[in-house]
Amino acid sequence: MFGMLKGLIPTGGRGTRLRPFTFSTNKHLIPIANKPLVFYPIEALAKAGIKDIGIVTNDTRPEIEKVLGTGKQWGVNFTYIDQPYPGGLAHVIQVSEKFLKGSRFVFHLGDNLFTEGIGEPLARFVKTKANALAPYLHHKDNRRLGVPYFNTKGKLMKYVEKPANPPHDLAVPGLYFFDHNVFKCFSGRDKITPSKRGELEIGSVYQWLMEHGYYVETYEIDGWWRDPGQLCDITEANRLVMEQKAEFIIQSPLIKKSKLIGKVGVGKGSKIYNSVIEGPVLIGDNVEIAKSYIGPYTSIYHNCKIKEAKIENSVIMEGTIIEKVKRRIDQSFIGKEVTITGKNRNHRLIISDLSEVHL
Ligand code: DAU
Repeated sequence: MFGMLKGLIPTGGRGTRLRPFTFSTNKHLIPIANKPLVFYPIEALAKAGIKDIGIVTNDTRPEIEKVLGTGKQWGVNFTYIDQPYPGGLAHVIQVSEKFLKGSRFVFHLGDNLFTEGIGEPLARFVKTKANALAPYLHHKDNRRLGVPYFNTKGKLMKYVEKPANPPHDLAVPGLYFFDHNVFKCFSGRDKITPSKRGELEIGSVYQWLMEHGYYVETYEIDGWWRDPGQLCDITEANRLVMEQKAEFIIQSPLIKKSKLIGKVGVGKGSKIYNSVIEGPVLIGDNVEIAKSYIGPYTSIYHNCKIKEAKIENSVIMEGTIIEKVKRRIDQSFIGKEVTITGKNRNHRLIISDLSEVHL
């Protein structure tokens, strides 16, 4: 539909707010409803008919490329672009100039999730032939986001990153639209410069375009949006995606003496015995569940083993073992290859930096 447009997805950054998980996993590969977070932006662009997508990485490229491949599985083409250091979102655009040259493009942050996709603001961008478009939405916590300021006629006048006292609850999420004029803001005497936090900010780009007489359109987005930036957001995003978007398919015949209630997805090679699974629940490939209760809004990624345990509202990453745990595990986010057993008389804990344990 919009084949002539290109897409750009950054997957770098520092991931500091999601530590300790991001010590070993790129934030964009954290599973939400059993799918790496960055799959959602890719799906959104592919669904909008965008075929050429630039994937921007820092030192994260091997890990990201291994999971994403060439783009074939989505019917799109990836071009990997190196951002030598995390210099800000405008810097992501700057380093992608060669790939984007001459095209209008959609810049979709790799950690943002839009349930309604991006079709509506994209159609608006195409229809109005604007030089740039900034979508906006209502968000109560907009002091940590980009905030648009309008005049009384509703025209965008200013765009400030993380303002201390926003005058309303509007925010610009991680979705931006530009044409080739955007590259003009990186050169000349009045080029944009790094902010106090040392980054070339996306807001400065819009501000520059407005101040130089370019046509900047805005569009209010409906539906829910999340950028799971903090740990508590992960289980919530997981729940919302399971409610609204996830597919539940049973791909394994190895389910014995168990009760499956509601929407349950089970991956290939997974075995479930003597258990109750009360959906919505997603279980990955080669998972073993025995004598357990898995309750609503839980997703268990590939190769986990759960025995004699009760779990709900939780996200469990790959290869984790949970065995003989008496108390219910609730609202938890558990990393890769973790072992939790209730076999010991005393608590014996081997926990890495910045972890949280609530016993
Ligand atoms: O999520 C929406 C918000 O995203 C917007 O409202 C803000 O205006 C925008 O600046 C951005 O704010 P954050 O502080 O949340 O951005 P963060 O540093 O987390 O980076 C966003 C994404 O871009 C994330 O996927 C990492 C990636 N990134 C970031 C930077 C700074 C890069 O790949 N390279 C970078 O240099």
